[in-house]
Parts: sequence; C-alpha cells; structure tokens
Amino acid sequence: MIRKVKGTRDILPPESRLWNAVEAAAHRVFGGFGYEEIRLPMMEPTELFVRSVGEDTDIVSKEMYTFADRKGRSLTLRPEGTASVARAYIENGLGQRPHPIRLSYFGPMFRYEKMQRGRYRQFSQIGIELLGAATPEADVEVILALHCFLAELGFADLVIALNNLGDPEDRPRFIERLKSELAPHREELCADCTRRWDANPLRILDCKVARCRELVADTTPVAEVVSEEARGHVEAVEAGLDRLGIAVQRAPRLVRGLDYYLRTVFEVVSPELGEDTVICGGGRYDRLVSDLGGSQVPGIGFAIGEDRLVEVLPQNYRSRVLGRPLVAVLPIGSSAAAPGLALTRELVTGGIIAHTEVTGRSLKAGMKWAGKIGARAVVILGEDELADNTAVVRDLERSEQEPVAMNQVVEHVARLMASDGK
Ligand code: HAM
Repeated sequence: MIRKVKGTRDILPPESRLWNAVEAAAHRVFGGFGYEEIRLPMMEPTELFVRSVGEDTDIVSKEMYTFADRKGRSLTLRPEGTASVARAYIENGLGQRPHPIRLSYFGPMFRYEKMQRGRYRQFSQIGIELLGAATPEADVEVILALHCFLAELGFADLVIALNNLGDPEDRPRFIERLKSELAPHREELCADCTRRWDANPLRILDCKVARCRELVADTTPVAEVVSEEARGHVEAVEAGLDRLGIAVQRAPRLVRGLDYYLRTVFEVVSPELGEDTVICGGGRYDRLVSDLGGSQVPGIGFAIGEDRLVEVLPQNYRSRVLGRPLVAVLPIGSSAAAPGLALTRELVTGGIIAHTEVTGRSLKAGMKWAGKIGARAVVILGEDELADNTAVVRDLERSEQEPVAMNQVVEHVARLMASDGK
C-alpha cells in the first residue's frame, strides 16, 4: 500500500466542510475590508526565501523543500506567502496601482518540521498583506480585520500578543546589549544558538530549547532599545486598537521566526493548543520589497495557520457547519431512476442538499442508508407515486410521512427543514 508523505494530510468530508466555511468567511470578511485574492505559485526560486525570510532562520536553514529542476535551477516549495507577495508586487508593477494595495492569499505552504499536533509539513495559510502604507492606522486595520474574522467564527478567548522590534537601525544596539547580557552564559547556549551568536543573534530569541529560553527571559526586551519613532509607532497602534475595543497584550520577547520584520509584530495564541501553538503570526516589513530589488514600499500583514484554526474552532460554529441538513432521494426500481434525478435537480436548484440513491437499493436498504448518511428527510419515488405524479416525503426526525405532489416537493422539504430549531 502506498501511504501519504509524512507530515501531509487528507482532509476528508465532513471535516473539509469546516475548511470551506472558514475560507468563505475569510473571503467575506477580508474581502469586505478590500483585500482581494492573489493566486501565487507554489514554487519559487530558492533565492527569494533566502533573501527575504533570511538565511539563518530555522525556515531557510533547515525546513525548506528545495530541489533542482531538470535544468539544475534551485527551486523551493514555498514555506510562506509574504515573500511571494513582495516578488509579485515588483514583478507585476503593482506599484502603478492606487495605494495601498490590499491582497489576500490561501493555500498550502511547506516546511520540513518535526511532526506533532498542529504541526505539519504541508499546511495551509490564510493571509492578508497591506502594501504601501507606513502609518500605525495600517497596522490597526490589519489587526482589526483579523479580529473581525476571528469574531465571525465565534472565538472569544484568543489572545493577541504584540511586540515592537524597532527598526533595522536599532538592531546593532539591541544585539550588542543582548550579547553582553548573554555573554556570561554563552557556553550554556545550544549548538544552534552558538552558531546564531555570530550569524544572526536576534534568532537566539526564538530558540525553542528550554535553557536558551531561560537565559533569554532575563535579557532586556528589544522594545526598550528602539528609537523614539519606532516606539511612537507601536504605541499608536496599541492606542488605536484600544479605541476599537480590541485587547492586545505586550509580549516583550516576541520576535517571530522571519528576518523581514520591523516595528510591529504580533501573534495569536489559542489557550486550547497551548502557548507554543500560534494560530496566526504577522507584522510589519517596510524593507522587504526594496530588499528584493523593488522601490521603498512599506508593508504589513499576517498569516493564519488554517489547520490549527480548524482544530480549535468554537463548538457552536463547528456544529452549525457540520449540522447542515440534507435529504435522501430514493427512487425505487429502474423506471424511477430518471425522475429521481430530475427531482434531485429541482431540490439542488432550490438550495437543498440532496443525495440520490444510485446503487439500486431496495426501499428497506435505502431507508437504512438514508439514516446512516444522516438525512433529515427521505423523498421516496416508487412506481405508485410515479403513476400519480407524487412522491412520499418521510420526515426522519418525527417519523412521519405523507404523499406530496411532485411540483410541491421542493417547497415541502424546504419548509420541513426551516421548521428545525424553531
Ligand atoms: P509564520 O509565523 O511562519 O508567519 O506562519 C504563520 C502561521 O502559519 C503560524 O502562526 C501557524 O499558525 C502556521 N504554521 C506555520 N508553520 C506551520 C506548520 N508546520 N504546521 C501548521 N501550521 C503552521 C508567516 O508565514 C508570515 N508569512 C506571516 C506574515 C504575513 N507576516 C506578514 N505577513
């Protein structure tokens, strides 16, 4: 037997319904704020991620699916979407369009990570990016859109954690401070952090090794070392969110695992999955487009991990989506097959989900099947019914049935379903 690749998943129905519902909500809410979908390639030149996410990040140094194509070009299955958005912005001349540019994206990302609950090698993100606005209001809007989306799904207990990374110009000062504070314990750092010490010391702050975390916990927070301008920016973001009634918590050691961030960074943590399981991460990246060869275009955005989001969806939302009623259409005998499908067509056109029995079951076996697939009602079409142009509609919940004129079936079934929960 051939099995799926480790870290990939089959999302089966009815679970896939939750994915579709979440994506539809994202299109609705983010689309409402003006974010329209950009469909991006799933593979990119490896260099794109090396130059944007950063060579010394975990993503680039150990998690990428990189391969040579038949002509020997180094390609990578995208580990994230922001780099591709920046590339597409430059390549398609989006700078010519009225700013800001608001984009959303949906789809699989690939990272070679250790498998665990909520951590996969192919996972899906829902992201938005706002390019061409450097104001704190842009950050507020992006976090507001995120908050509206999560509220639409019924989340009440999620925590938005936020930090100020300052500008790249602030970084040497911060790194000097960090190194001087960590120096007495330098030999206690893990092998990766020892390498990071020279290559990219900021990354020591997101090391997952327990001892490294302990050591980092005693260092000066980056926000205390940033310029007045950067401080003012993030404080304005916090004030703006506060005025909208959106609670955020300062997380002084949040740095995020990608190199392109500056100033505002944020994450959403689900108490249910634990503090290490972040369901959404984002931040500002004002130098990314120019670092990739474009003009000076500020940007801010986030990506939600859809796999994790679906895992922690509030029960109410889950039941509402999974509890969608359906009817079974049961033609008995071959002469009922075509009229059965004609009736299904009418039901479906009328907005009702109808599963037709097409395997030739008897009435008894058909009723059993209808029960197993969770039908709310069964529409039975036998020879007698065909003869007088009716169908029997059986309400499986109330165990009642009645003959209904063929041209009344859709209305009858619709009424029956509408009466549920009243
Ligand atoms: P990220 O924090 O690397 O940021 O990923 C965003 C989200 O993707 C995470 O919070 C998590 O929910 C999900 N995720 C990441 N890795 C995995 C995995 N192995 N399995 C399941 N879910 C995962 C970015 O990717 C940035 N591009 C976000 C961004 C957009 N920043 C600005 N704009």
